[in-house]
Amino acid sequence: MTAAEVSVALRQAVRRLATGVAVVTVWHGDVVHGTTVSSVAAVSREPLLIGVSLREGSDLMEVIMQARCFAVNVLSTRQSALAGWFADPGRPRGVAQFDHLEWEPDAFSGAPWIGGSLASLGCYLTTAVPVGDHKLLLGEVVTARTGEGAPLLHFTGRLHDGMLRILPREATHPTRPAHPSVRTATAAALNRS
Ligand SMILES: Cc1cc2nc3c(=O)[nH]c(=O)nc-3n(C[C@H](O)[C@H](O)[C@H](O)COP(=O)(O)O)c2cc1C
Repeated sequence: MTAAEVSVALRQAVRRLATGVAVVTVWHGDVVHGTTVSSVAAVSREPLLIGVSLREGSDLMEVIMQARCFAVNVLSTRQSALAGWFADPGRPRGVAQFDHLEWEPDAFSGAPWIGGSLASLGCYLTTAVPVGDHKLLLGEVVTARTGEGAPLLHFTGRLHDGMLRILPREATHPTRPAHPSVRTATAAALNRS
């Protein structure tokens, strides 16, 4: 494997992590902004913390660093258009991004809570850690409301509907797959290429 092939294989493996999709919003002074993310994760129960990873230079991150608070709107399958809209670099700046949307300011952060979301959270920024070309923001959840529906999922670079079919919790010994299609890419392969 060449170094380029190893790099592609590693990224393809990481893309197999399915995640939810959210629109993170912020309101600071006269600046309002929203951005689509798939990197939101629950990271602590006590205190109740969530993490979100934002690209260095993202407009959203710059405003959050000033506001020290933000909101997270967890998208449902019915909101897939919002995922595209809040990722579009050509979307208008400011409150015009939220035109034609039903929203209200979060009582804690003031940031938009978008109607129809599976959940909306208001968070206090506790920590911001540079991680590679991103910054990991940790927020303590201060306010929240929940809605109904199925989650919008991000998997292998595409949006998917979250068909919530509950699987049995089996504790039997896993069986070896008959024809494992396993391709191994390791950093060691770089040394052989
Ligand atoms: C499904 C999806 C997930 C995304 N996840 C992230 C993410 O976790 N972090 C990030 O920085 N950008 C993510 N992006 C890209 C941003 O939404 C996009 O670059 C946006 O235009 C950034 O806007 P801003 O610089 O105005 O904040 C994602 C885009 C899509 C479509």
